[in-house]
Amino acid sequence: MQLPDEAITYDYHGLLIPTREEWTPAAELRQQHFLSPAKIKDLLPRLNQVRSQVAAERELRLVPPELEPVHAGFIDLPQKLLDQERKAGPRSLLGRIQATAQQFREQVDRVVILGIGGSYLGARALFDALKHTYHNELPPKDRSGVPRIYFEGNNVDNDALHDLFELLQLTCVDPETREERWGVVVISKSGETLETAAAFRAIRREMAEFYGSHSPRLKQLLLPITGFGKPAKEGKPAEPSKLRQLSLADGFSDEEIFPIPDDVGGRYSVFTAVGLVPAALMGLDVRALLLGAAAMTRRFLDEPFERNPVLQYAAVNYLMTTQCHKPIRVLSIWSKKLEALGWWYDQLLAESLGKEGLGATPLTAVGTRDLHSRGQQHQEGARDKVINNLIVKSPRHPPIMIGMADKNQDDLNQYNRKGLPDLLAAALRGTNQAYADAVRPTADLVMPMLSEHAMGQLMQMLMLATVVEGRLLGVNPYGQPGVEAYKRNMKALLKS
Ligand code: PA5
Repeated sequence: MQLPDEAITYDYHGLLIPTREEWTPAAELRQQHFLSPAKIKDLLPRLNQVRSQVAAERELRLVPPELEPVHAGFIDLPQKLLDQERKAGPRSLLGRIQATAQQFREQVDRVVILGIGGSYLGARALFDALKHTYHNELPPKDRSGVPRIYFEGNNVDNDALHDLFELLQLTCVDPETREERWGVVVISKSGETLETAAAFRAIRREMAEFYGSHSPRLKQLLLPITGFGKPAKEGKPAEPSKLRQLSLADGFSDEEIFPIPDDVGGRYSVFTAVGLVPAALMGLDVRALLLGAAAMTRRFLDEPFERNPVLQYAAVNYLMTTQCHKPIRVLSIWSKKLEALGWWYDQLLAESLGKEGLGATPLTAVGTRDLHSRGQQHQEGARDKVINNLIVKSPRHPPIMIGMADKNQDDLNQYNRKGLPDLLAAALRGTNQAYADAVRPTADLVMPMLSEHAMGQLMQMLMLATVVEGRLLGVNPYGQPGVEAYKRNMKALLKS
């Protein structure tokens, strides 16, 4: 069960216009750039209506053409997967994922995960947030049987892929030794994304070279994850996704291919096999992830605005964009382990709401690192930004202290009783104060710690808030028609 002190909170009071304030130049600026509490109050009826609409979309079996696409399956999925596991145990999807990951981990010491966009960023965010920062460099015994993880197929970069192959060739010589064996997870919902497909073809060649072209390991050490493809329609038979077709040709049965439900869109798919298989391979607690996500869905559906971070985040950010003229939304992350989470949110926001000339532009910044690059602009540049701090309350490890030193030329002895968490807290408070003094609207999204449960809550919260914001804006948060144009052109150019 979720304990109160594990809950994620959103504190936006710092960007509200104070109720009674004497005229000063700063107060004047606040009138223009901060949010009036009355605007939030006025939005509440519409917000509750949107919550009911989003909740109702979960039940849609047949989507009316004007609403298409609706991919609301992600909302209830975490709880459904947990319930299914309780009933069916090892035969459930979660049971199968955990068993397969366990077998895979026993077989290989390196896993290459291929995928792009929604088929990459969620797993990458979980890896960076929850695994040791230098996981791949740790000796095997300190990785507790968890393989090294590499992400590829998320770009078209000849030299980067070459370097990965070179690394594998240099370090993996004997396929009979577990420490030198590697495997592949290939993830694509459509099953035909060129970046992933091209990398997969190349890596299959590498695999065949290493294990031998008839080795059973070519199948044993490969995990395909893909959608079902096009359903039968108007007399035309169903057409499995290309990756599914290829996997079937490789001897996988449909049951052996991990599915991606039709009603879950790519960037909303982190709690399908897309994120859960990599998470299980990384040795993460997938149940805790899902428990966190399911708890957030319940809060979204049941809690009033005052205790509902999904509604608060959606409302405040929607109003900042549309009423306070803040087209740039900065996610200012106070832990470098969450930078990839920021990239994941960049995609979520940009692809979901960047439509019909609308939608805020996401920007990920990492504190304190980017105070030394973007800080100047956030403090004094164009007043076009709202800053959402993402704060992790407690570090996972004991504080590294400044301590006393014989040579005090750096003048740090005065802080000898302070640790790095104290420095970070002071930097955060100092920055918030500086932004408040300069009338730069800032809010705090606070997570208790970096844990599976907290990441589950956070990712589900941001996905739900994005859908709510889309409905407030009047754009469909699902689908990404604008991405198709470059794909069409690229394929046409390659054929010509
Ligand atoms: O959100 C989306 O649907 C996209 O970003 C996809 O995740 C991305 O294009 C990858 O697609 P696929 O999983 O079909 O390879």
